[in-house]
Amino acid sequence: MRRRWLTTGPEALAFEKEFAAVLESGAPDSSKAPIQAISVNSATAGLRLALEAVGVGPGDYVAVPSLTFTATAGTVRHLGAHPLFVDSLENGGTLSPSHLEQMVLQLKSKGKYLKAVIPVHLAGRVCDINAIRRALGESPTLIIEDSAHAFPSRTKEGMAGDLGDIGVFSFYATKTITTGEGGMVCTRNPDFLQRISLMRLHGIDRTVWNRYGANAGHRPWEYDIQAPGDKCNLPDLCAAIGRVQLQRANHLHQQRKNLAHLYLKYLEDLPQVQCPQDAEGHAWHLFAIRLKNEETRNQVSEFLEKRGIGTSVHFIPLHTMSYWKRSSLIQAETLPVATSLGCQSLSLPLWPGMGKKEIKRVTQGLREALNA
Ligand SMILES: Cc1ncc(COP(=O)(O)O)c(C=O)c1O
Repeated sequence: MRRRWLTTGPEALAFEKEFAAVLESGAPDSSKAPIQAISVNSATAGLRLALEAVGVGPGDYVAVPSLTFTATAGTVRHLGAHPLFVDSLENGGTLSPSHLEQMVLQLKSKGKYLKAVIPVHLAGRVCDINAIRRALGESPTLIIEDSAHAFPSRTKEGMAGDLGDIGVFSFYATKTITTGEGGMVCTRNPDFLQRISLMRLHGIDRTVWNRYGANAGHRPWEYDIQAPGDKCNLPDLCAAIGRVQLQRANHLHQQRKNLAHLYLKYLEDLPQVQCPQDAEGHAWHLFAIRLKNEETRNQVSEFLEKRGIGTSVHFIPLHTMSYWKRSSLIQAETLPVATSLGCQSLSLPLWPGMGKKEIKRVTQGLREALNA
């Protein structure tokens, strides 16, 4: 506020640099081109910019999991392309590489291919990107990671968001780090970077900060329009919050991890509850359990609600939603795992400031709800 520069400027530039440095610090291979981060006002905007940059357009096919937030598929549709829904893995609910492979082969038999695939690191659990690559085979398909749930997820292969061609993060209010609203797009590909930067702000060739800020020179009003861009920039007010959040990210992650481990410990003797696995690099954005069936799930949720314990569902599969049912090319029969996870999963409360007492209260409530 004291700097008196509210829109995208020095804070956003610093946030981008610092965010990219974190991803770089998790990369095993330093011979690659450097990773670059571009701040945006939401992950939804970031996904649309990423899809546009890789050339997704009318009539193209893009594979997305059905078990995700609608933005993953909606952004594909915004560009006139077809999202093709992929089923989930029983273990973790992320996109199934074997179903993806079937899809690739089916398209190939018709002389078609997937322009892109958007694996979602659901709940912060990192997808097996190598298995996804194998499923794609020779297909010239680009991988855009929806990393909305997955900062800071570190794996041996690198950090989530740096495993495919472009990674997109969300800083929405409930995410692992937040700017209120906001997001980040990350890539090592200079062509994608250039296009995303251009399209992020009206297709203007010079940023406002460059024209009127620190480097303001002759004729700051002069600029060129190189494409019909969008308005997706992150204001400095949000970026300033993001920079502080970034410094706390490892601490916040450790807290989430400790709490998730407590849940795992307190629930291990409950056979009626299937817990998420403690996979490598899990960001623990969510802690979603799986129950026997929809009736039990709903009863448990209502029981907990009466005790003042809020729960949620991540997610109701997209292929069951009115719009996608009407307009998608995929049949529900091909998505059995996503369908049952949508009916059986329940996200328990999890936030960094939560205490052991609160975890106990939730697990005790759960036991009572299940008469266990
Ligand atoms: C998996 C997933 N992708 C994308 C988004 C969109 O994020 P944003 O709200 O920053 O646009 C969300 C938001 O909840 C999400 O859960």
